[in-house]
Amino acid sequence: MSSTILARMARTACVAALATTAFAAHATDNPATGKLLFEDTMNQTGLSFTGNCTSCHTNVQNRRAEIHFKTGGGSRDPFAAIDAETALNRIGYALNNVSAMKQFQVLEADQLTDLAAFIADTPKTSDTALSFSASAVNTPTVSQNLDLRNGVTFGQVTVDSVAIGGTGAARFTLKSDTCTAQKLAASATCRATISFSAADTAGYSATLTMTMHQGSSTTKFTRTVALDGAVGVVTPPPSGGNGGGTSGGNNSDEGGGALGVAWLGGLAIATALLRRRQGRATR
Ligand code: HEC
Repeated sequence: MSSTILARMARTACVAALATTAFAAHATDNPATGKLLFEDTMNQTGLSFTGNCTSCHTNVQNRRAEIHFKTGGGSRDPFAAIDAETALNRIGYALNNVSAMKQFQVLEADQLTDLAAFIADTPKTSDTALSFSASAVNTPTVSQNLDLRNGVTFGQVTVDSVAIGGTGAARFTLKSDTCTAQKLAASATCRATISFSAADTAGYSATLTMTMHQGSSTTKFTRTVALDGAVGVVTPPPSGGNGGGTSGGNNSDEGGGALGVAWLGGLAIATALLRRRQGRATR
């Protein structure tokens, strides 16, 4: 068998492995391993590169900010809530399109997903939106829980406030809140509980905003969740995704060779499939 075919088969196996890892996503991805890889890439992999991730990108906040901006976030927010699939997609984009990044194509699939998990390892809410349907006017719905979970590697987070705002805010009640003034250690969670009630059958929407800061930082950042409610309407559960768009679609391959393109194709397809699956699962 020719070496070209062998190389291609190896690549195919790699793409298949990556797809499997991506589908298994949250069980196996390890942000703590990703942190080691990000900060000490050469020692952790035993491979020689022109630098560790931190040599060119300083810190992980730098990558969160860049990915947030590149995926339509509108700003370079170092505390942005990036999801792991988006991070993986942007790593894949860079591996194929950024000269300084091509050397990292030799990393294994699980190393890339761990790096992506680390980049995505910020405090996250359990849902991006909650929908309420009341059985009758002036009858509060059953409460729904919204959890805030700190990342594994993020460091202590203090929640400054939990507030409901927006046009329909008065229809939503914060029944309980174990978040405000809490210090969340690694992986710790807190919970806000919300209900809805209205005196008519109009639809209402509001936003729940959790404001927090990291360690002794004075910079506050937020996680927001869309709330909507109505009386007597069965509202479909919100579809997943962060609405950040898919700006990984810039196909200006600057060389890289046929194998590199095929490799990224597999990556893009794997993450696109994953995104579609998640959409279906929550619809
Ligand atoms: C030799 C310098 C260098 C090293 C080392 C390096 N990068 Fe990059 N990387 C770049 C440059 C240059 C860009 C493109 C400009 C930018 O995004 O700041 C880039 C882009 C990226 C992007 C794309 C951001 C986006 O959304 O467009 C990601 C993600 C990324 N790098 C992650 C990593 C990770 C993870 C490592 C370690 C495995 C790493 N980089 C190591 C130079 C480097």
